[in-house]
Amino acid sequence: MTEIIDGNAVASEIRDGLTDAIETLADAGARPGLATVLMGDDPASQTYVNMKQRDCEEVGIESHHVDVDGDAPSEDLFDTIAGLNDDPEIHGYIVQAPVPDHVDYRDVIRRVDPTKDVDGFHPENVGRLVAGDARFRPCTPHGIQKLLESARVDTEGKDVTIVGRSDIVGKPLANLLIQKADDGNATVTVCHSRTEDLGEKTRNADVVVAAVGVPELVDGSMLTEGTVVIDVGVNRVDADTEKGYELVGDVEFESAEEKASAITPVPGGVGPMTRAMLLYNTVKAASMQEDVTVDLP
Ligand code: GUN
Repeated sequence: MTEIIDGNAVASEIRDGLTDAIETLADAGARPGLATVLMGDDPASQTYVNMKQRDCEEVGIESHHVDVDGDAPSEDLFDTIAGLNDDPEIHGYIVQAPVPDHVDYRDVIRRVDPTKDVDGFHPENVGRLVAGDARFRPCTPHGIQKLLESARVDTEGKDVTIVGRSDIVGKPLANLLIQKADDGNATVTVCHSRTEDLGEKTRNADVVVAAVGVPELVDGSMLTEGTVVIDVGVNRVDADTEKGYELVGDVEFESAEEKASAITPVPGGVGPMTRAMLLYNTVKAASMQEDVTVDLP
């Protein structure tokens, strides 16, 4: 039987654990605050940001949101960032990607106070992660580690193939999984658009993580019996539905499920974990800034 890894259930456990930490902070007179910044009106980004706001309310994190006009100059976004850096009620914030083409996202990230960078994207935080001393693990890779733990997948000595080399998922996940740590110790292969024989790399893996943004790229023919499959993709494809589209992952679920020992669905797999780990990082940021020790889940 293939285990369907239930991201909603694991995320709910994380949120329960965070509620206790938030109570500890409240007892010390501190309420964690998270801000989301959205430049432009990308509909998918709006949906993500709305969900993040709702998550905050559910666990007792004060949420703030700033919209920046998509046609505004970069300086308007930079001013918003400077304001959030100076605001003691904001313990963490994210600038939702993608930003409009005329804005350089790297330039944006460099302006975020690294102690408030709950995405974990600032070069200082990337460097710390690579050095094995992460301040904030990026939310999606951290969520994947928690999902693997929940499915009792020990990565030690395993071959993990990651399809996708993004700064948000592929690169940080590879760095986390090679760490000398209980949730690391894997042998990691990172594949990308120039990889010559993708199927060979995925068939050789004990764990395949698909994070490339190509609908249903990985199918059952590319997997060996018993592989653990983590699907990070959330792709809108045209469909005859009320909204005119449906969401599919980077994995063709039906054929992959036949081979996998465990697999994450889309939706309901990695997505809820990304959101839960953003709350986790916000609580961690508040704990550090307020100098209150909390137990994190
Ligand atoms: N866009 C897609 N994923 C993410 C994320 O994890 N953080 C931010 N800031 N933007 C995103």
